[in-house]
Amino acid sequence: MKETVVSGIRPTGKLHLGNYFGAYKNFLRLQEETNAYFFIADYHSLTTHPTPGDLKSSVRRVLAEYIALGLDPEKCTVYIQSDVPETAELYLFLNMNAYLGELERVTSFKEKARTQPNNINAGLLTYPVLMAADILLHRGVKVPVGKDQEQHLEMSRTFANRFNRLYNVEYFPEPTAFNFGTELVKVPGLTGGGKMSKSAGEADSIYLDEEASVLKKKIMRAVSDSGNEPGAPKSQPVQNLFDLMNLVCAPEVIASFEADHKAGSIRYGDLKKQLAEDMETFIAPLRDRIQATLGDSKRLDEIAAYGAEKARLSAQKTLREVREIIGFSR
Ligand code: TYM
Repeated sequence: MKETVVSGIRPTGKLHLGNYFGAYKNFLRLQEETNAYFFIADYHSLTTHPTPGDLKSSVRRVLAEYIALGLDPEKCTVYIQSDVPETAELYLFLNMNAYLGELERVTSFKEKARTQPNNINAGLLTYPVLMAADILLHRGVKVPVGKDQEQHLEMSRTFANRFNRLYNVEYFPEPTAFNFGTELVKVPGLTGGGKMSKSAGEADSIYLDEEASVLKKKIMRAVSDSGNEPGAPKSQPVQNLFDLMNLVCAPEVIASFEADHKAGSIRYGDLKKQLAEDMETFIAPLRDRIQATLGDSKRLDEIAAYGAEKARLSAQKTLREVREIIGFSR
């Protein structure tokens, strides 16, 4: 039997390069090889209270991007999380066995508590429980995600194991973060910080449908440093630029800039120009496909309805069994 794979992306507008190389790229391969469920995590996005209009358009946008970039609703199950309310029921059950202390120790929660102290809602605290529910809903074992989700996956394993122990069953498998046997990916942003993230502002992210002129401007304005002594290590912003080159540039091009950096003679203007060119080559076909798919509302509605139906079949089976294990069935 094929392994079950589950993953999702929050609808916060558009997908960026981090979403693509951290997760989506693997979705494309996994839909060929596994029993895969890829959803749009719209329940999750409520922690930041989008307006109904923004939520709707973001969900539509991500659905269009999922399809435009190659997910095939016949090969995998593509669905919108809130179309499958069984997710919420499993979340409730798992919440009964999630402890305040462990939830408060999650890095992403601590970070939010520090940066937005006036919006620490319970949904934010129990975010890893909802993620576990998403995965365990289909009894997923592999979860293609970027590096930033690693700790959340650890929590999913904890909740799966705890449920099994509590009810003395071997029901939920242990899900693991997955990247075809290699390290999970972290794509840096353009503003010199850690990972590419929408919350770091517009200038940090490269979107998958970025207009050519905007793309060039963003990259030429990317943070670098004021040059280096021969042999000195790379600063974080410069390492970030090299990491981005690694995604889209040819190895010999990168090697030549590496050598210039080592010699202390690197010109960041030249590096950025090269990066902008190669990035445009990568983005251009994606941009065209996204534009073409966005307008096809009828097809997107059909895809969402079809995906919801398939996802609910799997979810309803799990919930039937979970209810029985808990003791709800008569
Ligand atoms: P989200 O929406 O922040 O990101 C979606 C996916 O993109 C990856 N990602 C990155 N990878 C590498 N470098 C980056 N700069 C970068 N930025 C984002 C994320 O690791 C993720 O894989 N909680 C999740 C969504 C979610 C989910 C789930 C994922 C909800 N339920 C169940 C898997 C299984 C999130 O907020 O991802």
